[in-house]
Amino acid sequence: MKKLFSELPEIAGRLLTLRPLDMSDAAALARFKNDPDVYKRVPAFLFEQKYESAEEVIGKLYTECIKESLILGAFDEEGFCGLAEIYGYKPPLLKASVGGRLLPRCWGKGYATEMIGLLVGYLLNETDVEIVTASTMVENKAAAKVIKKNGFRRAMHGVPEDWGFGRPTAVDKWIRTGVGCRMEYRFRGQ
Ligand SMILES: CC(C)(COP(=O)(O)OP(=O)(O)OC[C@H]1O[C@@H](n2cnc3c(N)ncnc32)[C@H](O)[C@@H]1OP(=O)(O)O)[C@@H](O)C(=O)NCCC(=O)NCCS
Repeated sequence: MKKLFSELPEIAGRLLTLRPLDMSDAAALARFKNDPDVYKRVPAFLFEQKYESAEEVIGKLYTECIKESLILGAFDEEGFCGLAEIYGYKPPLLKASVGGRLLPRCWGKGYATEMIGLLVGYLLNETDVEIVTASTMVENKAAAKVIKKNGFRRAMHGVPEDWGFGRPTAVDKWIRTGVGCRMEYRFRGQ
């Protein structure tokens, strides 16, 4: 089993390919990170918003950002669709979290369901991770559906968390374990 973050994977699905971003993706990432519809129901402190320039973000994704999370680009036949993220890996606890955000042109086509499935499959089948968690805003019904369709169960409902909006955000916490996993995981406060 590979240790998570020991490689930058390329993960191919039926609809999407997830791969590391490179400088040729800068113009698409710049448009994406300025799209208000993408960022309504996600934390305000995501790495791609840390730097104004998309080139600077890409330049730091696999040096500075990789210490905390692995962000891959998601691409369909037409090109850039959005970002897939694995974060919150703190060995020796073999747990990681997944998340994602897509351009509106990519919504409603099953892309997010596949994207989360690809991340979960990679984590549970190819790395040392045994437990995968996710967090969704209570009001984000589409995200909850995507997570449920990937076999997660809701462990907590409506937990107030600081997502950077100046007031607590009501969040659902989700968990998915690998086959044969005997580890117990509880969220803080559960
Ligand atoms: C949330 C998001 C990732 C979903 O992506 P997507 O590619 O449209 O998702 P999918 O097509 O795989 O599945 C969405 C499911 O939610 C359903 N859905 C969409 N909007 C919904 C709503 N308002 N209420 C209930 N269900 C809804 C769809 O019908 C679909 O279910 P179905 O396959 O049973 O029909 C996408 O809208 C997005 O990137 N939003 C902005 C960023 C974001 O919120 N990210 C998630 C953070 S946790």
